[in-house]
Amino acid sequence: MQDLQTQRAAPLEFRLIQGAETESQFSALLDQGFGLSGGAHYLDDFPIWSERFSELKTLRLGIFRGSRLLSAVSLRFATLKTSRSARMAVALIGAVVTEVESRGQGLASQLIQAATRLAEEGGAAGVFLWASDHGIYMRHGFLPMGQQWRVPLEALEFGQSEPTAEIVVNKGWNPALFHMICNRPDGLAHSPTDLGWYQAHKNVCWFWAGSQEAPTAYAAVGRGIDLQNIVHEWGGDSVTLHSLLRELRTRESSLQLLATEKLLDKNSLAVRNEDVIVESLCLARPITDEFSKLIAEPESFWIWGLDAV
Ligand SMILES: CC(C)(COP(=O)(O)OP(=O)(O)OC[C@H]1O[C@@H](n2cnc3c(N)ncnc32)[C@H](O)[C@@H]1OP(=O)(O)O)[C@@H](O)C(=O)NCCC(=O)NCCS
Repeated sequence: MQDLQTQRAAPLEFRLIQGAETESQFSALLDQGFGLSGGAHYLDDFPIWSERFSELKTLRLGIFRGSRLLSAVSLRFATLKTSRSARMAVALIGAVVTEVESRGQGLASQLIQAATRLAEEGGAAGVFLWASDHGIYMRHGFLPMGQQWRVPLEALEFGQSEPTAEIVVNKGWNPALFHMICNRPDGLAHSPTDLGWYQAHKNVCWFWAGSQEAPTAYAAVGRGIDLQNIVHEWGGDSVTLHSLLRELRTRESSLQLLATEKLLDKNSLAVRNEDVIVESLCLARPITDEFSKLIAEPESFWIWGLDAV
C-alpha cells in the first residue's frame, strides 16, 4: 500500500527505455495501448522497436513515475534513397503509446517533441511517421505527405507478358531475399545489420520464385495488426514478378498492392485510374529546406511497408 502511494507521489521522469524489466513493461504497454489480445504482440509486428535490435540506430524514450512506464515513443535514424539517386538522413517515429489512465495529460506530446529534437540533433533532415488518426501529430508540425497508390491485385494489367509456364511459388522467408531488398533503388537504405529485425517479423507472409540462393521475384503480404491483405514489399524481374502476382491473386482475390505510379511503370504493370485509391504515404515534419523541397513533390520519395512503422 505504501509502495503504491510512493509510486503515485513520485515525480515524472524522462529516460531511455533500457534493460530487461523495462523492456517487458514497454512490450506490455504497447500491447495494452493498441488493444491487443489473444497472444498478439505489438513487437512481433514492429520488431525494429524491440531492445533485441537496439544496436541499430534506434532510441526508445519513456516517461516514468518511479519505476512505472507511463508513456513511450521510439525513434529510428535511417537513410532515404531519393529519386535523384542521392541519400538523405531522416528519422522515423513510431510505437507512440500512453497507458490508458495517463492519457490526455500531454505525455505523448512531450515525447514526440523530445524525439523530434533528438532527430534534429542527430542530423536528420526530416521526420516521418505513420498514423491512422492524425490529431496529435498535426499539432506537432506533421503533415500528410508523399503519395501511395493502393491497387487491387484484381485490377492489375500485366502488359504483354504471358504467364511463365512453370512458376513455382515458394512460401516463407528466405534470407536471400534480403539481398534484393538491400539493392532496391528506392525506399530506405538497408545494410546487413538490418537483417535481424527485418526477418524477425512474425506475421508477414513472404512469397518468392526462383532458386533458394537466387530468388528472382518476391512479394510480402500482411504484418499482423496492420497491412492486412496488403502486398507491401515486392520486386524482381518483371516477367517472374507478373507470374507471382497473378498467382497471388488467384489465391486471394482481395489483395491490394502498395505502389507508386512510377514503380508500376518500371515493372510494366498497369491499372485503370478508376481502380486506384490514391492516398498520402506518411506524415512528415521537415527539419531542413532540402527535406521540405523533396516532400513537396509527392512522387519524389517512397518508403516500403515494413519500414513504415
Ligand atoms: C495516441 C496516444 C499515444 C496519445 O497519448 P496522450 O499521452 O494521451 O497524448 P497527449 O495527452 O499528448 O495528447 C492527447 C491527444 O492525442 C490525440 N489522440 C488520441 N488518440 C489518438 C490516436 N490514436 N492517434 C493520434 N492522436 C490521438 C487526441 O487528439 C488528444 O487530443 P485532445 O486532448 O485534444 O483530445 C494515446 O491515446 C494512445 O496510446 N493511444 C493508443 C495507441 C495509439 O493509437 N498510438 C498512436 C499510433 S500512431
